[in-house]
Amino acid sequence: MKFFIDTANLKQIQEAQSLGVLDGVTTNPSLMAKEGIKGQANITQHYIDICKTVSGDVSAEVISTDYEGIIEEGLKLAKLHPQIVVKVPMIKDGIKAIKYFSEHNIKTNCTLVFSAGQALLAAKAGATYVSPFIGRLDDTSTDGVSLIEQIVHIYRNYNYKTQVLAASIRHPMHIIMCAEAGADVVTCPLDAILALFNHPLTDIGLAKFLADYKKSQ
Ligand code: G3P
Repeated sequence: MKFFIDTANLKQIQEAQSLGVLDGVTTNPSLMAKEGIKGQANITQHYIDICKTVSGDVSAEVISTDYEGIIEEGLKLAKLHPQIVVKVPMIKDGIKAIKYFSEHNIKTNCTLVFSAGQALLAAKAGATYVSPFIGRLDDTSTDGVSLIEQIVHIYRNYNYKTQVLAASIRHPMHIIMCAEAGADVVTCPLDAILALFNHPLTDIGLAKFLADYKKSQ
C-alpha cells in the first residue's frame, strides 16, 4: 500500500519524505488556502516546489466545474511537472474530462467520491486514482472503510486499473483498516502517519535493552 501525505505544508512533506516511506502527495484548494498560498502564480510555484520535494505523484486540483475549463486547467497543471496528477471532482463534466485525460495519457485523481456508483464511473472513465473520503462519511454516521472494501471488491471483479486512494483519513486505525480492505493508497495527515510508530511496549522494551547494555559496559 502506498502512503501519500494529504497536505500542502512543505515542512510536513519534507518530514514525511525523510522517513523514507512516502510515495506521493495530495492537495486540494482547502489545504492550499490553509498554508496561505494565494494567487495563481504562487499556487503554481507551490505545486512545483512540492514536486521537487518528493519523488512520487502529486495531486493538484482543478477549480473549474465545466468540461472546457477542467480540460484547459488540467492541461496547464499537467505541463507543470511530470509528477503532477490532475485532481478532478466527481461531477458529470469531471468524468468526461477524466476520459479525455486518460486518452491523452494524463494521470487523474477523481475526488469527492462518496459511493460505489461514483467509483465505478471513475474507473470506467479511466481515472488513475479514485478518492473515497472515508472520514467525511464517518462524520455522517456512515462506515467509510466499508466503502473502501466495496470499491476494492468491484474493481477486482472487473480488473479495473484505477487505484483506490483512501482519503479523508483521520487517525492510524483508518490506515490499518484501509490496508486490510485492500486500498492501493492512503493519503494521510502527517500526525496519522507518525501515530503508527507508537507502542508503549516498544518504548519499554527499548529502555530495557539500553539499560541492560549499560550494565554490560
Ligand atoms: O484530500 C482531501 C481529503 O483527504 C479531505 O480530508 O479531512 O478534509 O475530510 P478531510
